Amino acid sequence: MKQSQVLAIAGLFIVQAFGVDVYRRQTNFNQNYNVPQRSGSCPEKDGRYPTGTCDGYIECKDGVPEEKVCPDGLLFNPATGPQAFPCQYPIDVDCTGREQTQPAQPTDDCPHQYGYFRLGDATTCGQFKNCVEGRGFVFDCPEGLAFNGDSYRCDWPDQVPTCDAEGFLGFTCPPDARAFGLGQEEFRFFRSPNDCQRYFVCVNNRPRMYNCGEGQAFNDLINSCDGVENVTGCAVPQYSTKNDFGKGSSNAIQGNSFRNYRI
Ligand SMILES: *[C@@H]1O[C@H](CO)[C@@H](O)[C@H](O)[C@H]1NC(C)=O
Repeated sequence: MKQSQVLAIAGLFIVQAFGVDVYRRQTNFNQNYNVPQRSGSCPEKDGRYPTGTCDGYIECKDGVPEEKVCPDGLLFNPATGPQAFPCQYPIDVDCTGREQTQPAQPTDDCPHQYGYFRLGDATTCGQFKNCVEGRGFVFDCPEGLAFNGDSYRCDWPDQVPTCDAEGFLGFTCPPDARAFGLGQEEFRFFRSPNDCQRYFVCVNNRPRMYNCGEGQAFNDLINSCDGVENVTGCAVPQYSTKNDFGKGSSNAIQGNSFRNYRI
């Protein structure tokens, strides 16, 4: 159990690192959708200054002010250094006092030219879309994780307010007196009703899905992952193709972690 939990948690960090990586790469573009204008004045010779809107700013070079607008979907962050691109994703920018933005420029794919957007509804929380120049790229969170639009991370579904963890995972933690505590939280383990390899950990009675991994199965008797040959009814590994999983079940998980494709 410990090992598989460590693996699952390590997996989560990989996802987070991956998310950050995608995010950094996309912010490194160099386009400035500038509207050159000689208006306003420069408090200092060089610098960038907020305007009344959250995505507009004035860039001063050698005392010459130029009004600029961030690409649609990005917002001006006055705190960025002089070398950095000053337009960032909304989660990183405080718009207090300058809430207005340019009108959205949606495409068939995307609500804004740039950004991260969750897809699906409360029971299909595992996908998100990254929009770049109005083109949408769909990503799957690793199995069992849900996209959190407040953090741009794949997270446990019970931690994502827009996700119905039970509906998404197809599992509801049964009310049960058997529980053991670790600090203030309670953990209980349940083998997935759909297959041997996966199991649920109920944390404060909300489900999180784990995978024992290849050749392993969840053994109810020891409350832990075990060799498949040691688990009754699981002797033959049945889940070598991901398409087997979820068929005929209410589970919405698609697998295909990290795979992205253009739509
Ligand atoms: C199966 O169970 C035995 C006895 O508990 C254990 O020694 C063995 O390591 C288990 N097999 C696997 C693959 O974990």
